[in-house]
Amino acid sequence: MTRICIVGAGHVGLVYGVAFALAGNEVVAADVDAKPIATLAKGTPTFFEPGLSKALRRALRTKRLSFTTNVVGASGKAKAIFLCVGTPSRPDGSIDTMYLEAAAKSVGEGIRATKGYSVVAVKSTVLPGTTDGIVRPALEATSGKAAGRDFGLCVNPEFLREGSALEDAIKPDRIVIGAFNRRSATALAPVYRGVRSPRLTTDLRTAEMIKYATNAFLATKVSFANELANLCDAFGGINVDAVVEGMGLDPRINPRFLKAGLGFGGSCFPKDVRALVAGGRARGYGSRVLRAVLELNDLQPLRAVELAEKAVGPLAGKRVAILGLSFKGGSDDVRESRAIPLAKALLERGASVVGYDPEANSAFKAAVPAVEIAPDLASALARADVCIVHNDWPQWRALKASHFSGMRGDVVVDGRRILRRGAMKGVRLEVLGG
Ligand code: UGA
Repeated sequence: MTRICIVGAGHVGLVYGVAFALAGNEVVAADVDAKPIATLAKGTPTFFEPGLSKALRRALRTKRLSFTTNVVGASGKAKAIFLCVGTPSRPDGSIDTMYLEAAAKSVGEGIRATKGYSVVAVKSTVLPGTTDGIVRPALEATSGKAAGRDFGLCVNPEFLREGSALEDAIKPDRIVIGAFNRRSATALAPVYRGVRSPRLTTDLRTAEMIKYATNAFLATKVSFANELANLCDAFGGINVDAVVEGMGLDPRINPRFLKAGLGFGGSCFPKDVRALVAGGRARGYGSRVLRAVLELNDLQPLRAVELAEKAVGPLAGKRVAILGLSFKGGSDDVRESRAIPLAKALLERGASVVGYDPEANSAFKAAVPAVEIAPDLASALARADVCIVHNDWPQWRALKASHFSGMRGDVVVDGRRILRRGAMKGVRLEVLGG
């Protein structure tokens, strides 16, 4: 059992707090924002994540998980302190480390008077050099102690996917520990005792880069798949999924994450790739591949508009329904959702846009107020001239032609190849990568 403090009770912090507590550790999750802390302490998660609600209540019942706004006090009592605060994007793509620095200062204050050796681990996604250049000085300044000698310092990136975050935290596919020195790595090891996953220990900068390299590569795979889909459409009569299946038989190619669609969104890929490009630029390196990955991702939602226009002509005055507003199925998160540029492009063309999502309706309304939000699928489709399926909620797979019978038009653009062709008799399907 390790006494753990999590600083930042957002998506990452909460999931790890629950996972560490259920693994038998004593966890205090601290956040300067009193509102979410009060909600979480009552056993209600502040965002949608499958299984989290139950797991949070279970962890609270064991009394091994508690919540506080006292970051200094909680970190002073812990053996391992995880920094899980957000690192938002600045307009130029670089990341803002303001919250991280503030959190590190509070933790430094917390560990100032402690006797034993505690370890601070950065889980927030930060560019190489940040932990040594910003976190370490902040910790040392307020603690009056030296990293490595008096307390441990590590970078321990997370690889959680929304929708399976809890499972990813409990059974990670790997544990990467970037350590300031050997003693730091040794101090963090007990937290992962009993977790059977491959481990890699590196220096701080390498671990920071591993997180970015992973997300940049996955984003590149998605943009590659999207380009392939566009090329399949240009040649005509080729299904991109069949192409990927064939490619995937080559053992050098992993076919996962090559599902073409209208682009990647979410709180991580777009932000992380932009940050890496901006970080390279600031250091005199102009990225080529990653810039192209982003450029294609900006254009990809417009493919749905093109397919709709090809089928029904100019969209001015037409009513277009978007099915799926979150950045991916299974999530209520609309951050960087490709449905946002898609809706804006439709509105710019003079269409009226109605959207429906099983979980993300209110968040989307706040993001694009000009879009009408339908309370259910049938009202979204009622009187629509065109329907565009944007994300991959599993329930879209169950749709049949009869679900679309309330539409004024008969054109459905499938941006994810999720509808079953055989069930769509009488519907004019326009399929991306078809
Ligand atoms: C991503 C990574 O998958 C996680 O490993 C990582 O920990 C996380 O970012 C993070 O850095 O915190 P997530 O943002 O939850 O996780 O979403 P993904 O499932 O990776 O999907 C990202 C976007 O790519 C979505 O818009 C999704 O629809 C799209 N995508 C993904 C595709 O279009 N095709 C695919 O084959 C896969």
